[in-house]
Amino acid sequence: MSVSQLILAVLVVGSVCNAPRALGARELAGEDAVTDAAMAGRHEKWMAEHGRTYKDEAEKARRLEIFRANAKLVDSFNAAGKHSYRLATNKFADLTNEEFRASRTGLRMPESVAGARSGRFRYENFSLADAPQSLDWRKRGAVTGVKDQEDCGCCWAFSAVAAVEGLNKIRTGRLVSLSEQELVDCDVNGIDQGCDGGLMDDAFNFIAHRGGLASETTYPYRGADGSCRSSAAAKRAASIGGHEDVPRNNEAALMAAVAHQPVAVAVNGGGYAFQLYNGGVIDGHCGTDLDHAVTAVGYGTASDGTKYWVMKNSWGKSWGEHGYVRIRRGTRGEGVCGLAKMPSYPV
Ligand SMILES: *[C@@H]1O[C@H](CO)[C@@H](O)[C@H](O)[C@H]1NC(C)=O
Repeated sequence: MSVSQLILAVLVVGSVCNAPRALGARELAGEDAVTDAAMAGRHEKWMAEHGRTYKDEAEKARRLEIFRANAKLVDSFNAAGKHSYRLATNKFADLTNEEFRASRTGLRMPESVAGARSGRFRYENFSLADAPQSLDWRKRGAVTGVKDQEDCGCCWAFSAVAAVEGLNKIRTGRLVSLSEQELVDCDVNGIDQGCDGGLMDDAFNFIAHRGGLASETTYPYRGADGSCRSSAAAKRAASIGGHEDVPRNNEAALMAAVAHQPVAVAVNGGGYAFQLYNGGVIDGHCGTDLDHAVTAVGYGTASDGTKYWVMKNSWGKSWGEHGYVRIRRGTRGEGVCGLAKMPSYPV
């Protein structure tokens, strides 16, 4: 164990889940019956679209109230039209923000990010003049299909695995879908705690020390904590030597890294910008307290000149832009949603 890992291990304080604003069921006072009926109809339609059922009428009534609060937020946000992204009553529209954060995020933070970062950055001398104007690792065949962490706070495993899948493709020419479940089940002796959260750097270290990771096929995802299946885990499908951290709060450095490989990125994804995201470039309405993890798989510039990162998420294909989210690129400091605070990549 290195000194930096030791510091990291000592400083762990558990999940940080500070979203900018919490949604919840609200009072119905003052609303007329027509609006109520319309909202109930909208909820019914949404339930049919998403195949959602509830155990009884009381639960359905409770979910309708949550849906109502979220739908109103979506409508007023979109009507204001002040942002370069849109919200929608997507598949998370009947969850309170607390429920959403508890089940769909899952980044565990070291108390001191700066103290926990390792030194070497192999792309430090790379000139951005040599980087393409836009880049999409999906088009280069280095990104597997969008996955779904389901009701399990292991975003950290999906973020790390997508980065390893990308590097493996770049190094070997083969794109192999790798096992998040192996990390959930077997990487349990440090910060990483399966569905209770974890950290990508520790996942990279685990994979390096273990000598590789099994494939998704050999060790499939179950969406719940389980005991480590050593025989499945023994069949390594890809390996890495370790990881490096991108210098913090430095989007130019992040671009240098993403120009070479997909990069694991911690973000604030627990707020409504992510919960109810439909598409476009997120340019705000998220804090910078890190509680979620995604993988940067490209960057570009929209027709209106907005620069963005393309991030692979782990909430299924029906969320956002076919499972991806674009976030504004090129700001100073911590970046939109804190994306520049803690990126890292396998080597
Ligand atoms: C970057 O360049 C400096 C100066 O030439 C050199 O000392 C350093 O080792 C280089 N960094 C890497 C990662 O190659």
